[in-house]
Amino acid sequence: MSESKQTKYVTAGRDKKWTNGVVNPPVQRASTVVFETVAEKHHATVNRANKTLFYGRRGTHTHFAFQDAMTEIEGGAGCALYPCGTAAISNAILAFVATGDHILMVDTCYEPTRDFCEKVLKKMGVETTYYDPTIGAGIGDLIQDNTKVLFLESPGSITMEVQDVPAMAAAAHQHDIVVMLDNTWAAGVNFSPFEHGVDISIQAATKYIVGHSDVMLGTAVASEAYWDQLREHSYLMGQCISPDDAYLGLRGIRTLDVRLRQHAENSLKVAEWLKNRPEVDHVRHPALETCPGHEYFERDFTGGNGLFSFVLKTSYPRATTALLDGMKHFSMGYSWGGFESLILANEPKSFNSLRTVANPNFSGTLIRLHIGLENVDDLIADLQAGFERYNALIAEKAATA
Ligand SMILES: Cc1ncc(COP(=O)(O)O)c(C=O)c1O
Repeated sequence: MSESKQTKYVTAGRDKKWTNGVVNPPVQRASTVVFETVAEKHHATVNRANKTLFYGRRGTHTHFAFQDAMTEIEGGAGCALYPCGTAAISNAILAFVATGDHILMVDTCYEPTRDFCEKVLKKMGVETTYYDPTIGAGIGDLIQDNTKVLFLESPGSITMEVQDVPAMAAAAHQHDIVVMLDNTWAAGVNFSPFEHGVDISIQAATKYIVGHSDVMLGTAVASEAYWDQLREHSYLMGQCISPDDAYLGLRGIRTLDVRLRQHAENSLKVAEWLKNRPEVDHVRHPALETCPGHEYFERDFTGGNGLFSFVLKTSYPRATTALLDGMKHFSMGYSWGGFESLILANEPKSFNSLRTVANPNFSGTLIRLHIGLENVDDLIADLQAGFERYNALIAEKAATA
């Protein structure tokens, strides 16, 4: 009988060879690994890619425990570790492209992913075509003879479009293209990447895996076919992380399920409340019908989390500032996935530089929320007070018009 998801969060990576018989693997710090015999040194050298102590950059038992845990919960053949999610994204792409190649990138990708394509890949002579996140199987029409990577992020950053991953992966696989997914929103677990045709599942483990807003961490889990190339390229690029960070990533996995369920319950309650607010045009929460690609969320995901957006009917930056500046429980921060609630606003014109083929052309401000683990009624009261400040300035503007 295969273990349930909840049990895996508790058992993953806890092999006795990493833990030495205690519950959590000790933080094993090492640059130098020493050998007493030529035979031992030889054994380590030939097995250095295979979780054998060799040299610090290849990892220690703490790293191996975290890597095992990531492949046990996400699937795949192995997990490469990076100092942040952005390093995981750029190194995974770099491992599979050369000058003259072409990649397909979702237009709603995380902004630094786009910057990497524009500022690094372009300089190397690798061309990027951005595609609409709702394109589905139509992605086949954008494939060129030199296309090497199809990159997805689902739901998309800020605007939350959920993608039809299986249809897109099937189209890409007809041409031997590597399918990569930024799987951060699903924390690698509420969307099973390898069951939906993904070859490399990437995460900013900085977010829900770590879960406490105190570590930068990236992971890329690859299927058997792509693991060797990803691992060796990352090694040559010098990608490695501290054992302390690996330890904290692993510890985060233990509570991932309960945290995600509570984030999801809280966020759905806030989203339902926002849906009925007169100031709100629509809510982009994957579990609600008003989110583009909601049907793929229903079909492919096993749960949600705390991150979603909503769009206001109007854009009046002074009123938005009044809303944001007075929040009690929501802080402004360029991240998400921790236990705390966060809020950020994007005025419609900001999408002109973020999007080239799928500009949503909102008429009102988009507000992105990360709903944390606070009492949800406190959060709703905070938002309600924010709307009162917002409405006072809208009314003042109307009175002076
Ligand atoms: C969807 C997504 N992917 C990747 C990243 C990058 O992760 P990191 O900040 O660890 O580099 C982020 C960070 O916000 C993100 O939101």
